[in-house]
Amino acid sequence: GAPTTPAAVDPDVVDNFAFAFDIDGVLIRGGQPIPEAIEAMKVLNGENEWGIKVPYIFLTNGGGKSEAERCRDLSQQLQIEVSPGQFICGHTPMRELADRYHTVLVVGGEGEKCREVAESYGFRDVITPGDILKANAATAPFRKLTPDEHANSRDLLARGNGSGRLSDVVIEAVFVFADSRDWASDLQIILDVAQSRGGRLETRSATFDEGPPIYFSHNDVVWSTAHQHARLGMGALRRAVETVFEATTGGRGVLRTHAFGKPQVSTFEFAARLLREWRATRHRQQRHGLPPTTTPTAAAAADAAADVPPATVYFVGDTPESDVRGANAMDAVAPNEWYSILVQTGVYQAGTEPRDKPRAVVGTVLDAVRHGLRREM
Ligand code: G3P
Ligand code: MG
Repeated sequence: GAPTTPAAVDPDVVDNFAFAFDIDGVLIRGGQPIPEAIEAMKVLNGENEWGIKVPYIFLTNGGGKSEAERCRDLSQQLQIEVSPGQFICGHTPMRELADRYHTVLVVGGEGEKCREVAESYGFRDVITPGDILKANAATAPFRKLTPDEHANSRDLLARGNGSGRLSDVVIEAVFVFADSRDWASDLQIILDVAQSRGGRLETRSATFDEGPPIYFSHNDVVWSTAHQHARLGMGALRRAVETVFEATTGGRGVLRTHAFGKPQVSTFEFAARLLREWRATRHRQQRHGLPPTTTPTAAAAADAAADVPPATVYFVGDTPESDVRGANAMDAVAPNEWYSILVQTGVYQAGTEPRDKPRAVVGTVLDAVRHGLRREM
């Protein structure tokens, strides 16, 4: 076949620093771009006085859609091309648990989306609250499935050649992928599973210490959306689960909950790996674009340069407890600098004292980009 044309070399892309962005409250609010965000992306893509381009990735606690679909939305909202190679959302790390658990309960999100995402991650038997409500409508007395929800929910009673009973289904883990759309019924179902005999639906443990683990894709108690004040998020549901578990078991039980996402350092380490791959891809392109006279040593040097992390990653967020805490914790352990910048367009409001101290507080994401560029150039 015809030789493939090497990707264009882009000598203007800087090597020594990069940006990582939180999304809600920094770039997007209530589904709409924050106006300065579009300009900020233009500045990073070369519309600056030095004519340089700066690599960047996105690290959001949000979710509810596949990474590819979220990137399509973001591309359109910010008028740039966003690739899944530069994007991590709250549930992305859950993919690493697909081999560990066979039958799982997946909670949250719109319609069947989260089931689809879980299956795309490799989870083999994904059950939703809708499936349980379809099999036993009395599970949540005030929740009635819509005709669509009823049609899309799976028939758990049809398992085992139609002889299935709910008590034949054993949930090995619960994954809250995205915000609940019906807290009361989801809370009831999560607690039922947590208080069951080893995850077996419709059973009750005598000791309340044998329920499966419950994984939340993040722990944000509030987040920034269209309302002037921050709205309740998944971290609030987690606290509700913990508090009501305690109340309904008389404090005798054992509940195992875990949260992914920011501020977990592992999430930032995941981001660092992504950034490294993102830059390495570009360096490989550069190497293939090198003139034929390039010595092997120079080519090897180009490869080695790709493996060195940028000296500084500017992390721009709006939630001190997630973004600043996580970036600061990463800064303490990473070989390079993670420089936290807090904006005032989301959860954090001017005039209050953030418990986690950022390296800089600025107005908008555009100010954050300018702050980083000023520090570098
Ligand atoms: O549900 C999403 C929200 O809690 C946070 O999203 O982009 O601010 O990390 P983000
Ligand atoms: Mg945010």
